[in-house]
Amino acid sequence: MNPRYLINFDLAKMNSVKTGAIIIGSGSAGLTAALHASEFCKVTIVTKSKVEESNTLHAQGGVAVALSKDDSWEKHFEDTIFAGAGLCNRKSVKVLVKEGVHRVNELISLGANFDRHNGKLLFTREAAHGQRRIIHANGDNTGAEIARTLVRAVRNNRKIDVMEDHYVIDLLHYKNRCYGVIAFNRKTGRKTAVIAPSTVLATGGAGQVYRETTNPEVATADGMAIAYRAGTALMDMEFMQFHPTTLYLAGAPRFLISETVRGEGGILVDKNNYRFMKDYHPLRELAPRDVVSRAIVEQMKKTDSNFVSLDLSDIPPGKVAKRFPNIKKLCSDYGLKIPRDKIPVRPSAHYMMGGVKIDLGCKTNIKGLYSCGEVSCSGVHGANRLASNSLLESMVFGYRAGIAAGQNSNLKNFKVPPIKYEIDRKVLHALDVADVRRSLQSVMWRCVGLEREEHSLAEAYNIITFWERYILSAMLSYADGFELQNMLMVAKLMAKAALRRKESRGAHYRTDFPKPVEKWKRHIKFSLKD
Ligand code: SIN
Repeated sequence: MNPRYLINFDLAKMNSVKTGAIIIGSGSAGLTAALHASEFCKVTIVTKSKVEESNTLHAQGGVAVALSKDDSWEKHFEDTIFAGAGLCNRKSVKVLVKEGVHRVNELISLGANFDRHNGKLLFTREAAHGQRRIIHANGDNTGAEIARTLVRAVRNNRKIDVMEDHYVIDLLHYKNRCYGVIAFNRKTGRKTAVIAPSTVLATGGAGQVYRETTNPEVATADGMAIAYRAGTALMDMEFMQFHPTTLYLAGAPRFLISETVRGEGGILVDKNNYRFMKDYHPLRELAPRDVVSRAIVEQMKKTDSNFVSLDLSDIPPGKVAKRFPNIKKLCSDYGLKIPRDKIPVRPSAHYMMGGVKIDLGCKTNIKGLYSCGEVSCSGVHGANRLASNSLLESMVFGYRAGIAAGQNSNLKNFKVPPIKYEIDRKVLHALDVADVRRSLQSVMWRCVGLEREEHSLAEAYNIITFWERYILSAMLSYADGFELQNMLMVAKLMAKAALRRKESRGAHYRTDFPKPVEKWKRHIKFSLKD
Protein backbone atom coordinates (compact mmCIF):
# COMPACT_ATOMS: atom_id res chain seq x y z
CA MET A 1 0.00 0.00 0.00
CA ASN A 2 1.35 3.40 -0.99
CA PRO A 3 0.07 6.20 1.27
CA ARG A 4 -0.30 9.61 -0.38
CA TYR A 5 1.05 11.30 2.78
CA LEU A 6 3.32 10.06 5.55
CA ILE A 7 1.15 11.64 8.24
CA ASN A 8 -2.51 12.24 8.98
CA PHE A 9 -3.37 15.94 9.05
CA ASP A 10 -6.03 18.57 8.57
CA LEU A 11 -4.70 21.72 6.92
CA ALA A 12 -7.43 23.86 8.48
CA LYS A 13 -6.06 23.00 11.94
CA MET A 14 -2.38 23.56 11.15
CA ASN A 15 -0.13 26.49 11.79
CA SER A 16 0.57 27.98 8.33
CA VAL A 17 2.60 30.66 6.55
CA LYS A 18 2.34 32.00 2.98
CA THR A 19 5.10 32.86 0.55
CA GLY A 20 5.54 33.37 -3.21
CA ALA A 21 7.81 30.43 -3.98
CA ILE A 22 9.10 27.59 -1.83
CA ILE A 23 12.47 26.06 -2.61
CA ILE A 24 13.08 22.69 -0.94
CA GLY A 25 16.80 22.06 -0.54
CA SER A 26 19.85 24.26 -0.41
CA GLY A 27 22.42 22.79 -2.79
CA SER A 28 23.57 24.70 -5.84
CA ALA A 29 20.29 23.94 -7.69
CA GLY A 30 18.09 25.17 -4.85
CA LEU A 31 20.15 28.27 -4.10
CA THR A 32 20.31 29.22 -7.79
CA ALA A 33 16.54 28.73 -8.08
CA ALA A 34 15.95 30.86 -4.96
CA LEU A 35 18.08 33.73 -6.24
CA HIS A 36 16.25 33.84 -9.57
CA ALA A 37 12.74 33.33 -8.16
CA SER A 38 13.42 36.28 -5.85
CA GLU A 39 13.50 38.54 -8.93
CA PHE A 40 9.69 38.06 -8.93
CA CYS A 41 8.51 37.32 -5.40
CA LYS A 42 9.23 36.50 -1.77
CA VAL A 43 10.99 33.15 -1.52
CA THR A 44 11.27 30.65 1.33
CA ILE A 45 13.99 28.02 1.31
CA VAL A 46 13.11 24.98 3.42
CA THR A 47 16.11 22.82 4.20
CA LYS A 48 16.41 19.86 6.52
CA SER A 49 19.87 20.72 7.76
CA LYS A 50 21.91 23.93 7.63
CA VAL A 51 21.78 25.94 4.43
CA GLU A 52 25.46 25.16 3.74
CA GLU A 53 25.03 21.36 3.92
CA SER A 54 24.44 19.61 0.59
CA ASN A 55 26.10 17.40 -2.00
CA THR A 56 27.41 20.60 -3.63
CA LEU A 57 29.60 21.36 -0.62
CA HIS A 58 31.42 18.04 -1.06
CA ALA A 59 31.94 18.24 -4.83
CA GLN A 60 35.64 18.23 -5.66
CA GLY A 61 36.45 17.90 -9.34
CA GLY A 62 34.78 20.89 -10.86
CA VAL A 63 32.37 22.21 -13.41
CA ALA A 64 32.45 21.10 -17.04
CA VAL A 65 31.93 24.12 -19.25
CA ALA A 66 32.89 24.99 -22.83
CA LEU A 67 34.89 28.12 -22.00
CA SER A 68 38.38 27.33 -23.22
CA LYS A 69 39.49 28.69 -26.58
CA ASP A 70 39.84 25.17 -28.05
CA ASP A 71 36.37 24.16 -26.95
CA SER A 72 32.81 24.76 -28.12
CA TRP A 73 29.34 23.91 -26.85
CA GLU A 74 29.03 21.54 -29.81
CA LYS A 75 32.02 19.47 -28.60
CA HIS A 76 30.66 19.43 -25.06
CA PHE A 77 27.28 18.38 -26.48
CA GLU A 78 28.79 15.44 -28.38
CA ASP A 79 30.73 14.16 -25.36
CA THR A 80 27.63 14.37 -23.15
CA ILE A 81 25.45 12.53 -25.68
CA PHE A 82 28.08 9.83 -26.14
CA ALA A 83 28.44 9.24 -22.39
CA GLY A 84 24.63 9.03 -22.00
CA ALA A 85 24.56 5.72 -23.95
CA GLY A 86 21.54 6.46 -26.12
CA LEU A 87 19.20 7.84 -23.47
CA CYS A 88 20.02 11.58 -23.36
CA ASN A 89 17.36 14.08 -24.30
CA ARG A 90 19.16 16.08 -26.99
CA LYS A 91 17.16 19.26 -26.37
CA SER A 92 18.01 19.25 -22.65
CA VAL A 93 21.66 18.61 -23.39
CA LYS A 94 21.75 21.55 -25.78
CA VAL A 95 20.23 23.79 -23.11
CA LEU A 96 22.79 22.49 -20.61
CA VAL A 97 25.92 23.10 -22.63
CA LYS A 98 24.86 26.41 -24.18
CA GLU A 99 23.29 28.08 -21.14
CA GLY A 100 25.97 26.61 -18.88
CA VAL A 101 28.44 29.15 -20.22
CA HIS A 102 26.18 32.02 -19.04
CA ARG A 103 25.50 30.49 -15.66
CA VAL A 104 29.20 30.00 -14.96
CA ASN A 105 29.92 33.60 -15.95
CA GLU A 106 27.09 34.70 -13.68
CA LEU A 107 28.58 32.72 -10.79
CA ILE A 108 31.94 34.34 -11.42
CA SER A 109 30.27 37.76 -11.32
CA LEU A 110 28.76 36.80 -7.94
CA GLY A 111 32.30 36.34 -6.67
CA ALA A 112 33.21 32.67 -7.24
CA ASN A 113 36.97 32.32 -7.58
CA PHE A 114 37.94 29.57 -9.98
CA ASP A 115 41.62 28.68 -10.29
CA ARG A 116 43.52 30.76 -12.84
CA HIS A 117 47.00 31.21 -14.26
CA ASN A 118 47.96 34.72 -15.36
CA GLY A 119 44.30 35.67 -15.05
CA LYS A 120 43.13 32.89 -17.38
CA LEU A 121 40.87 30.06 -16.16
CA LEU A 122 42.62 26.72 -15.73
CA PHE A 123 40.97 23.64 -17.21
CA THR A 124 41.54 20.05 -16.15
CA ARG A 125 40.49 16.77 -17.67
CA GLU A 126 38.11 14.03 -16.60
CA ALA A 127 36.94 10.76 -18.08
CA ALA A 128 35.17 10.73 -21.45
CA HIS A 129 35.77 14.44 -22.13
CA GLY A 130 37.54 14.99 -25.45
CA GLN A 131 38.89 18.25 -24.10
CA ARG A 132 40.39 19.85 -21.00
CA ARG A 133 37.11 21.39 -19.93
CA ILE A 134 36.75 21.25 -16.15
CA ILE A 135 37.17 24.45 -14.15
CA HIS A 136 37.99 24.10 -10.47
CA ALA A 137 38.42 26.19 -7.35
CA ASN A 138 41.03 26.07 -4.57
CA GLY A 139 42.34 22.86 -6.13
CA ASP A 140 39.80 20.23 -5.19
CA ASN A 141 37.41 22.47 -3.22
CA THR A 142 35.16 23.49 -6.13
CA GLY A 143 31.86 22.60 -4.47
CA ALA A 144 32.77 24.52 -1.32
CA GLU A 145 33.57 27.65 -3.35
CA ILE A 146 30.27 27.44 -5.24
CA ALA A 147 28.34 26.85 -2.01
CA ARG A 148 30.14 29.78 -0.32
CA THR A 149 29.28 32.11 -3.21
CA LEU A 150 25.63 31.13 -3.46
CA VAL A 151 25.01 31.01 0.30
CA ARG A 152 26.44 34.52 0.67
CA ALA A 153 24.22 35.84 -2.14
CA VAL A 154 21.16 34.18 -0.57
CA ARG A 155 21.96 35.48 2.94
CA ASN A 156 22.30 39.02 1.52
CA ASN A 157 19.00 38.82 -0.33
CA ARG A 158 16.19 40.31 1.75
CA LYS A 159 13.51 38.64 -0.33
CA ILE A 160 14.71 35.17 0.67
CA ASP A 161 13.89 33.55 4.03
CA VAL A 162 15.57 30.36 5.10
CA MET A 163 13.91 27.73 7.29
CA GLU A 164 16.84 25.59 8.44
CA ASP A 165 16.42 22.27 10.26
CA HIS A 166 12.99 21.90 8.67
CA TYR A 167 12.26 18.56 7.10
CA VAL A 168 9.61 18.50 4.38
CA ILE A 169 7.35 15.57 5.22
CA ASP A 170 5.17 15.95 2.13
CA LEU A 171 3.94 18.23 -0.60
CA LEU A 172 0.46 19.65 -0.05
CA HIS A 173 -1.29 18.40 -3.14
CA TYR A 174 -4.85 18.20 -4.32
CA LYS A 175 -6.24 17.25 -7.73
CA ASN A 176 -2.89 17.43 -9.48
CA ARG A 177 -1.93 20.85 -8.08
CA CYS A 178 0.75 21.57 -5.50
CA TYR A 179 -0.07 24.14 -2.79
CA GLY A 180 3.15 24.04 -0.77
CA VAL A 181 4.64 21.72 1.82
CA ILE A 182 4.26 20.33 5.31
CA ALA A 183 7.49 21.25 7.10
CA PHE A 184 8.61 19.58 10.32
CA ASN A 185 10.86 21.47 12.71
CA ARG A 186 13.52 18.92 13.71
CA LYS A 187 14.29 20.80 16.91
CA THR A 188 10.78 21.43 18.26
CA GLY A 189 8.77 18.75 16.44
CA ARG A 190 6.29 21.44 15.34
CA LYS A 191 4.65 21.10 11.92
CA THR A 192 3.98 24.11 9.70
CA ALA A 193 2.12 24.28 6.40
CA VAL A 194 4.17 26.51 4.10
CA ILE A 195 1.79 27.61 1.36
CA ALA A 196 2.79 28.99 -2.05
CA PRO A 197 1.64 29.00 -5.67
CA SER A 198 5.06 27.61 -6.69
CA THR A 199 7.18 24.91 -5.12
CA VAL A 200 10.60 23.86 -6.40
CA LEU A 201 12.03 20.48 -5.44
CA ALA A 202 15.81 20.70 -5.24
CA THR A 203 16.51 18.09 -2.60
CA GLY A 204 19.47 16.33 -4.22
CA GLY A 205 20.24 12.65 -4.62
CA ALA A 206 19.75 9.22 -3.15
CA GLY A 207 23.26 7.91 -2.44
CA GLN A 208 22.40 7.08 1.16
CA VAL A 209 20.27 4.13 0.08
CA TYR A 210 23.63 2.38 -0.45
CA ARG A 211 26.09 1.16 2.15
CA GLU A 212 29.04 2.54 0.20
CA THR A 213 28.51 6.08 -1.05
CA THR A 214 30.31 9.36 -1.60
CA ASN A 215 27.12 11.22 -0.64
CA PRO A 216 26.62 13.03 2.68
CA GLU A 217 24.09 11.86 5.30
CA VAL A 218 21.44 14.22 3.91
CA ALA A 219 21.19 12.50 0.49
CA THR A 220 18.25 10.28 1.42
CA ALA A 221 16.03 10.43 -1.69
CA ASP A 222 13.39 12.56 0.06
CA GLY A 223 12.44 14.68 -2.96
CA MET A 224 11.82 11.67 -5.19
CA ALA A 225 9.64 10.03 -2.56
CA ILE A 226 7.52 13.07 -1.73
CA ALA A 227 7.02 13.85 -5.42
CA TYR A 228 6.04 10.25 -6.13
CA ARG A 229 3.48 10.28 -3.33
CA ALA A 230 2.03 13.48 -4.78
CA GLY A 231 1.60 11.80 -8.18
CA THR A 232 4.62 12.84 -10.25
CA ALA A 233 6.37 10.47 -12.61
CA LEU A 234 9.84 9.17 -11.69
CA MET A 235 12.06 8.21 -14.61
CA ASP A 236 15.36 6.30 -15.12
CA MET A 237 15.45 5.02 -11.53
CA GLU A 238 17.77 2.13 -12.47
CA PHE A 239 20.58 4.53 -13.35
CA MET A 240 22.73 5.11 -10.27
CA GLN A 241 26.26 6.14 -11.17
CA PHE A 242 29.07 4.50 -9.22
CA HIS A 243 32.22 6.55 -8.83
CA PRO A 244 35.33 4.41 -9.37
CA THR A 245 37.53 5.85 -6.66
CA THR A 246 36.38 6.23 -3.07
CA LEU A 247 38.87 6.02 -0.21
CA TYR A 248 38.79 2.53 1.29
CA LEU A 249 40.47 2.50 4.65
CA ALA A 250 39.17 0.99 7.88
CA GLY A 251 37.43 3.66 9.92
CA ALA A 252 37.84 6.44 7.36
CA PRO A 253 34.79 8.04 5.72
CA ARG A 254 34.05 6.86 2.19
CA PHE A 255 35.69 9.99 0.91
CA LEU A 256 35.66 10.77 -2.82
CA ILE A 257 39.03 10.72 -4.53
CA SER A 258 38.26 12.99 -7.44
CA GLU A 259 38.47 11.80 -11.01
CA THR A 260 40.63 14.84 -11.69
CA VAL A 261 43.41 12.97 -9.83
CA ARG A 262 43.41 10.54 -12.75
CA GLY A 263 42.96 13.49 -15.12
CA GLU A 264 46.24 14.94 -13.80
CA GLY A 265 48.14 11.64 -14.17
CA GLY A 266 47.14 9.37 -11.26
CA ILE A 267 47.17 5.70 -12.27
CA LEU A 268 45.31 2.65 -10.95
CA VAL A 269 47.29 -0.40 -9.86
CA ASP A 270 46.23 -3.69 -8.29
CA LYS A 271 47.81 -5.30 -5.25
CA ASN A 272 50.65 -6.63 -7.42
CA ASN A 273 51.35 -3.09 -8.57
CA TYR A 274 50.05 -3.94 -12.03
CA ARG A 275 48.50 -1.11 -14.11
CA PHE A 276 45.42 -3.09 -15.05
CA MET A 277 43.29 -0.46 -16.86
CA LYS A 278 45.25 -1.07 -20.06
CA ASP A 279 43.60 -4.53 -20.19
CA TYR A 280 40.11 -3.03 -20.10
CA HIS A 281 39.95 0.09 -22.28
CA PRO A 282 42.22 2.06 -24.65
CA LEU A 283 41.57 5.22 -22.60
CA ARG A 284 42.87 3.41 -19.51
CA GLU A 285 42.22 5.45 -16.32
CA LEU A 286 40.20 7.97 -18.31
CA ALA A 287 37.75 5.47 -19.75
CA PRO A 288 34.06 6.17 -18.96
CA ARG A 289 33.18 5.91 -15.28
CA ASP A 290 31.13 2.74 -15.54
CA VAL A 291 33.96 0.99 -17.40
CA VAL A 292 36.57 1.99 -14.81
CA SER A 293 34.29 1.02 -11.91
CA ARG A 294 33.59 -2.43 -13.32
CA ALA A 295 37.24 -2.96 -14.24
CA ILE A 296 38.20 -2.23 -10.62
CA VAL A 297 35.66 -4.76 -9.32
CA GLU A 298 36.88 -7.32 -11.84
CA GLN A 299 40.51 -6.76 -10.88
CA MET A 300 39.64 -6.98 -7.18
CA LYS A 301 38.05 -10.37 -7.86
CA LYS A 302 41.00 -11.55 -9.97
CA THR A 303 43.53 -10.63 -7.31
CA ASP A 304 41.33 -11.56 -4.35
CA SER A 305 41.53 -8.10 -2.84
CA ASN A 306 39.05 -5.61 -1.33
CA PHE A 307 40.53 -2.60 -3.08
CA VAL A 308 42.92 -1.33 -5.74
CA SER A 309 45.26 1.65 -5.36
CA LEU A 310 45.63 5.04 -6.89
CA ASP A 311 49.25 5.89 -7.49
CA LEU A 312 50.04 9.62 -7.71
CA SER A 313 53.80 9.25 -7.91
CA ASP A 314 53.93 10.52 -11.51
CA ILE A 315 52.42 13.86 -10.42
CA PRO A 316 55.01 16.30 -9.03
CA PRO A 317 54.54 16.68 -5.21
CA GLY A 318 54.11 20.47 -5.55
CA LYS A 319 51.26 19.95 -7.99
CA VAL A 320 49.60 17.38 -5.73
CA ALA A 321 49.67 19.89 -2.85
CA LYS A 322 48.24 22.69 -4.98
CA ARG A 323 45.63 20.75 -6.95
CA PHE A 324 44.47 18.37 -4.22
CA PRO A 325 44.86 20.06 -0.83
CA ASN A 326 41.64 18.54 0.48
CA ILE A 327 42.48 14.97 -0.55
CA LYS A 328 46.06 15.36 0.71
CA LYS A 329 44.83 16.59 4.10
CA LEU A 330 42.30 13.80 4.55
CA CYS A 331 44.80 11.13 3.49
CA SER A 332 47.31 12.57 5.92
CA ASP A 333 44.72 12.48 8.76
CA TYR A 334 44.53 8.73 8.11
CA GLY A 335 48.26 8.19 7.96
CA LEU A 336 48.83 8.32 4.19
CA LYS A 337 51.43 10.71 2.81
CA ILE A 338 50.60 11.37 -0.84
CA PRO A 339 52.14 11.22 -3.42
CA ARG A 340 54.60 8.93 -1.60
CA ASP A 341 51.87 6.50 -0.48
CA LYS A 342 49.26 5.02 -2.76
CA ILE A 343 45.58 5.61 -1.94
CA PRO A 344 43.44 2.46 -1.42
CA VAL A 345 40.22 2.93 -3.39
CA ARG A 346 37.14 1.16 -4.68
CA PRO A 347 33.84 2.20 -6.28
CA SER A 348 30.78 3.49 -4.46
CA ALA A 349 27.36 4.97 -5.23
CA HIS A 350 27.77 8.56 -6.32
CA TYR A 351 25.11 10.18 -8.47
CA MET A 352 21.48 9.45 -9.31
CA MET A 353 20.76 10.04 -12.99
CA GLY A 354 17.04 9.27 -12.60
CA GLY A 355 14.45 11.19 -10.65
CA VAL A 356 11.41 13.42 -10.97
CA LYS A 357 10.55 13.77 -14.64
CA ILE A 358 10.66 17.38 -15.79
CA ASP A 359 10.37 19.25 -19.07
CA LEU A 360 12.75 21.93 -20.34
CA GLY A 361 11.03 24.52 -18.13
CA CYS A 362 11.56 22.29 -15.03
CA LYS A 363 7.82 21.64 -14.81
CA THR A 364 6.63 18.32 -13.40
CA ASN A 365 3.26 16.84 -14.31
CA ILE A 366 1.78 18.53 -11.18
CA LYS A 367 0.70 22.14 -11.54
CA GLY A 368 2.77 24.51 -9.43
CA LEU A 369 5.53 21.94 -8.83
CA TYR A 370 8.97 22.36 -10.42
CA SER A 371 12.14 20.41 -9.95
CA CYS A 372 15.87 20.84 -10.68
CA GLY A 373 19.25 19.33 -9.89
CA GLU A 374 19.96 15.74 -8.92
CA VAL A 375 16.43 14.99 -7.66
CA SER A 376 15.07 15.65 -11.15
CA CYS A 377 15.39 13.89 -14.47
CA SER A 378 15.48 16.14 -17.50
CA GLY A 379 17.34 13.57 -19.58
CA VAL A 380 20.61 15.53 -19.66
CA HIS A 381 22.57 12.57 -18.30
CA GLY A 382 20.83 9.69 -20.05
CA ALA A 383 22.14 6.37 -18.78
CA ASN A 384 25.50 7.74 -17.68
CA ARG A 385 26.45 11.25 -16.60
CA LEU A 386 29.54 12.86 -18.06
CA ALA A 387 31.87 13.82 -15.20
CA SER A 388 31.40 17.35 -13.80
CA ASN A 389 28.19 17.97 -15.71
CA SER A 390 26.13 17.91 -12.52
CA LEU A 391 27.15 21.25 -11.01
CA LEU A 392 26.53 22.78 -14.41
CA GLU A 393 23.12 21.12 -14.56
CA SER A 394 22.23 22.42 -11.10
CA MET A 395 22.95 26.00 -12.17
CA VAL A 396 21.29 25.81 -15.60
CA PHE A 397 18.12 24.07 -14.46
CA GLY A 398 18.15 25.86 -11.08
CA TYR A 399 17.97 29.10 -13.04
CA ARG A 400 15.13 27.83 -15.22
CA ALA A 401 13.18 26.47 -12.24
CA GLY A 402 13.63 29.73 -10.33
CA ILE A 403 12.38 31.87 -13.21
CA ALA A 404 9.40 29.56 -13.85
CA ALA A 405 8.48 29.42 -10.15
CA GLY A 406 8.83 33.19 -9.80
CA GLN A 407 6.62 33.85 -12.80
CA ASN A 408 3.93 31.61 -11.32
CA SER A 409 4.02 33.17 -7.85
CA ASN A 410 1.09 35.54 -7.91
CA LEU A 411 -0.85 35.14 -4.65
CA LYS A 412 -3.92 36.94 -6.04
CA ASN A 413 -6.59 34.40 -6.96
CA PHE A 414 -4.52 31.65 -5.30
CA LYS A 415 -7.02 29.68 -3.27
CA VAL A 416 -6.01 26.71 -1.17
CA PRO A 417 -8.56 23.88 -0.83
CA PRO A 418 -9.27 22.28 2.57
CA ILE A 419 -6.74 19.43 2.29
CA LYS A 420 -7.08 16.65 4.82
CA TYR A 421 -5.65 13.11 4.99
CA GLU A 422 -6.55 10.34 7.36
CA ILE A 423 -5.70 6.64 7.14
CA ASP A 424 -5.41 3.94 9.72
CA ARG A 425 -1.83 3.97 11.10
CA LYS A 426 -0.16 1.64 13.53
CA VAL A 427 2.19 2.95 16.19
CA LEU A 428 5.36 0.87 15.89
CA HIS A 429 6.74 0.68 19.40
CA ALA A 430 10.52 0.59 19.53
CA LEU A 431 11.08 0.49 15.75
CA ASP A 432 14.86 0.44 15.33
CA VAL A 433 15.10 2.91 12.44
CA ALA A 434 18.90 2.84 12.31
CA ASP A 435 18.90 -0.95 12.06
CA VAL A 436 16.45 -1.02 9.11
CA ARG A 437 18.38 1.80 7.42
CA ARG A 438 21.65 -0.13 7.69
CA SER A 439 19.99 -3.33 6.46
CA LEU A 440 18.48 -1.47 3.49
CA GLN A 441 21.87 0.01 2.62
CA SER A 442 23.49 -3.43 2.73
CA VAL A 443 20.80 -5.08 0.61
CA MET A 444 21.01 -2.29 -1.98
CA TRP A 445 24.80 -2.52 -2.10
CA ARG A 446 24.78 -6.30 -2.40
CA CYS A 447 21.83 -6.70 -4.80
CA VAL A 448 21.32 -3.42 -6.70
CA GLY A 449 24.96 -2.37 -6.96
CA LEU A 450 27.45 -2.05 -9.76
CA GLU A 451 26.69 -5.54 -11.09
CA ARG A 452 23.12 -6.80 -11.01
CA GLU A 453 21.19 -9.90 -12.01
CA GLU A 454 17.63 -11.17 -11.87
CA HIS A 455 17.83 -13.26 -8.73
CA SER A 456 19.47 -10.70 -6.44
CA LEU A 457 17.38 -7.82 -7.81
CA ALA A 458 14.24 -9.81 -7.03
CA GLU A 459 15.63 -10.56 -3.58
CA ALA A 460 16.11 -6.82 -2.92
CA TYR A 461 12.67 -5.99 -4.26
CA ASN A 462 10.99 -8.64 -2.07
CA ILE A 463 12.76 -7.76 1.15
CA ILE A 464 12.08 -4.03 0.72
CA THR A 465 8.43 -4.80 -0.03
CA PHE A 466 8.30 -6.77 3.21
CA TRP A 467 9.81 -3.91 5.26
CA GLU A 468 7.47 -1.45 3.58
CA ARG A 469 4.45 -3.49 4.67
CA TYR A 470 4.85 -2.50 8.30
CA ILE A 471 6.88 0.72 8.02
CA LEU A 472 5.37 2.76 5.19
CA SER A 473 2.03 3.55 6.75
CA ALA A 474 3.21 3.45 10.35
CA MET A 475 2.65 6.45 12.58
CA LEU A 476 6.12 7.94 12.92
CA SER A 477 6.79 11.40 14.27
CA TYR A 478 10.52 12.00 13.83
CA ALA A 479 12.68 12.97 10.83
CA ASP A 480 14.81 9.78 10.84
CA GLY A 481 11.62 7.78 10.49
CA PHE A 482 10.30 9.87 7.58
CA GLU A 483 13.71 9.57 5.94
CA LEU A 484 13.61 5.80 6.25
CA GLN A 485 10.11 5.66 4.76
CA ASN A 486 11.33 7.74 1.81
CA MET A 487 14.45 5.64 1.32
CA LEU A 488 12.40 2.43 1.27
CA MET A 489 10.00 3.81 -1.35
CA VAL A 490 12.76 5.00 -3.64
CA ALA A 491 15.03 1.96 -3.18
CA LYS A 492 12.16 -0.32 -4.15
CA LEU A 493 11.59 1.66 -7.37
CA MET A 494 15.30 1.47 -8.15
CA ALA A 495 15.26 -2.32 -7.75
CA LYS A 496 12.04 -2.57 -9.76
CA ALA A 497 13.43 -0.53 -12.67
CA ALA A 498 16.69 -2.49 -12.63
CA LEU A 499 14.74 -5.76 -12.71
CA ARG A 500 12.66 -4.56 -15.63
CA ARG A 501 15.58 -3.35 -17.78
CA LYS A 502 16.84 -6.63 -19.20
CA GLU A 503 19.98 -5.29 -20.84
CA SER A 504 23.15 -3.40 -19.87
CA ARG A 505 23.36 0.29 -20.69
CA GLY A 506 25.49 3.06 -19.21
CA ALA A 507 25.64 2.74 -15.44
CA HIS A 508 23.14 -0.15 -15.35
CA TYR A 509 25.06 -3.41 -15.75
CA ARG A 510 23.28 -6.78 -15.70
CA THR A 511 25.58 -9.80 -15.63
CA ASP A 512 22.70 -11.88 -17.05
CA PHE A 513 22.13 -9.42 -19.93
CA PRO A 514 25.61 -7.93 -20.47
CA LYS A 515 24.89 -6.14 -23.79
CA PRO A 516 22.68 -3.18 -24.76
CA VAL A 517 19.47 -4.18 -26.54
CA GLU A 518 17.97 -1.87 -29.16
CA LYS A 519 14.38 -2.23 -27.97
CA TRP A 520 15.47 -1.01 -24.51
CA LYS A 521 16.61 2.32 -25.87
CA ARG A 522 13.76 3.89 -23.94
CA HIS A 523 12.93 5.18 -20.49
CA ILE A 524 11.21 3.39 -17.65
CA LYS A 525 8.76 5.60 -15.73
CA PHE A 526 6.76 5.00 -12.60
CA SER A 527 3.93 6.94 -11.10
CA LEU A 528 1.30 6.12 -8.50
CA LYS A 529 -1.36 6.47 -11.16
CA ASP A 530 0.07 3.50 -13.09
C1 SIN B 1 34.94 13.98 -9.09
O1 SIN B 1 35.56 14.95 -8.68
O2 SIN B 1 35.45 12.95 -9.48
C2 SIN B 1 33.45 14.05 -9.11
C3 SIN B 1 32.99 14.87 -10.22
C4 SIN B 1 31.66 14.42 -10.67
O3 SIN B 1 31.09 13.48 -10.12
O4 SIN B 1 31.16 14.98 -11.65
